[in-house]
Amino acid sequence: MPVISFDAVTKVYPLPAGDVVALAGIDLAIEEGEFVLIMGPSGSGKSTLLNVMGSLDVPTSGEVTIAGKRISRMDDDELTLMRRDHIGFIFQQFNLIPLLSVVENVEYPLILKGRRDVSRERAEEVLAAVGITESHFTHKPGELSGGQQQRVAIARALINDPDFLLCDEPTGNLDSKTGTAIMELLGRMNREEGKTVIMVTHDPRMTEYADRTIRLVDGRLA
Ligand SMILES: Nc1ncnc2c1ncn2[C@@H]1O[C@H](COP(=O)(O)OP(=O)(O)O)[C@@H](O)[C@H]1O
Ligand SMILES: [Mg+2]
Repeated sequence: MPVISFDAVTKVYPLPAGDVVALAGIDLAIEEGEFVLIMGPSGSGKSTLLNVMGSLDVPTSGEVTIAGKRISRMDDDELTLMRRDHIGFIFQQFNLIPLLSVVENVEYPLILKGRRDVSRERAEEVLAAVGITESHFTHKPGELSGGQQQRVAIARALINDPDFLLCDEPTGNLDSKTGTAIMELLGRMNREEGKTVIMVTHDPRMTEYADRTIRLVDGRLA
């Protein structure tokens, strides 16, 4: 059974100047353990596709099924729990909380889950797994390099042990060497930890890490 499937999914943004069709009828299935890249020109619907996959955005029509459940049948509370327990999000801009330390940023999702008892220990464990050393734990995100900040963001995405990672241009703000190191890390999470990884990227070098590349043009699969 696929972990995520789309059946005739559309997303239309109604704007005064006319409708913007971001997704124009997408059918796809992603299997457990796959590493899938999503590529396509700017404005082709990549971020919209990823947001709909992560139930951060609702489709205009069609059906999305995540871990065997139709998201249209889930209420807001169920969707929140599904995102919290099954999905890790990683963004181009890292989206770390500037006033919290590295270790506080990482443990935050676990504290939200009411697990302050284990959050510090578990945060230190995932930080070690992504290659952030103890000397950085009390730093603020702004005191770290871009590559280190993205590692912290990946640690935060991993802390609830999600089934899959949704990554929107995670290397887009990094130089090519640092970007490659982040790809290696995501590849390792896929191979060794069994995480399904779905990643939007502009970088054609990344195709060698992936099992499969999905190409979007004007909201359609190319
Ligand atoms: N919130 C929104 N409101 C209106 N139009 C949007 C919104 N988000 C995205 N779009 C439009 O949908 C299309 C696809 O956008 P996006 O998914 O961000 O593409 P990509 O990530 O491939 O650059 C673009 O034409 C974009 O302008
Ligand atoms: Mg985008």
